[in-house]
Amino acid sequence: MARQGLNGMAGLQRFRDLVLRSRSIRRFDESAGVTGETLRDLAELACYVPSPRNLQPLKFLAVSDPERCKALFPMLGWAGYLPDWPGPEPGERPRGYIVMLGDTSISRDFACDSGIAAEAIMLGASSMGLGGCIIGSLERDGLRRLLRIPGRYELLLVLAIGRPAETVVVDEMDEADPVRYWRDPNGIHHVPKRRAGDIMADFGDDPC
Ligand SMILES: Cc1cc2nc3c(=O)[nH]c(=O)nc-3n(C[C@H](O)[C@H](O)[C@H](O)COP(=O)(O)O)c2cc1C
Repeated sequence: MARQGLNGMAGLQRFRDLVLRSRSIRRFDESAGVTGETLRDLAELACYVPSPRNLQPLKFLAVSDPERCKALFPMLGWAGYLPDWPGPEPGERPRGYIVMLGDTSISRDFACDSGIAAEAIMLGASSMGLGGCIIGSLERDGLRRLLRIPGRYELLLVLAIGRPAETVVVDEMDEADPVRYWRDPNGIHHVPKRRAGDIMADFGDDPC
C-alpha cells in the first residue's frame, strides 16, 4: 500500500510538472514546423474528454498550410494586458492552429466542452515540447469566410500552436495588481497565480 501511495505521488508530481509547464505561449520559433498530422493528433485528444450528457458537440479544423496560417493570423487578438505589444512578429508566429467549433445541430451549449477540450489539447502539446495559446478574441466573421465555416457551426476558440521561443514564469499573486500578466525588461513573461492556500475554501465544519 505504502509503495502504491509513493508511486501515486510521483505520478501526480509528473502531472503537476506538465500542468505547470503548460503556460500560454505567444512567441514561437517559426522555423520549427508543425504538421497537420500533429495538429490532428492533438485535436483527437478531445475524443476522450468528458462532455455533459456525452453529447460531444465539438468539431475541429487543423490549419497548418503556411498561406492559410498567414491569412488567419491577423484575425487573432493577442495578450490584452500587454497593450504596447501587437502580438508575435514575423519569425515568431505560430506554425499551426486548431480551430474549435461548436456544432449547433448537436447542442447550443459548448461552455464546459470547449474548456475541457482546449486544456487537454494544450497539455498534449506541452507533453511533446510544443506550446501555444488558447485564443478567444477572434474576428469571427473573417475567420468564418476564410475557412468557409458553415453557419451551423459556432466559432468557439482558436488554439495557436508552435515551438515555444519565450520564457514564461509563474509568480505568486501580488495583492497590488493581482491578475495582469506582464513582461520584464529581459522579455520574460510573468503570470501571477493564486496560491494553493488561497483557492481552498474552508467554511468550517460546525453543523449549522
Ligand atoms: C477561454 C480562454 C480564452 C483566451 N483568450 C485569449 C486571447 O484571446 N488572447 C490571448 O493572448 N490569450 C488568451 N487566453 C490566454 C490567457 O490570457 C492565459 O490563460 C492567462 O493569461 C494565464 O496564463 P497561463 O495560461 O500561462 O496560465 C485565453 C485563455 C482562455 C482559457
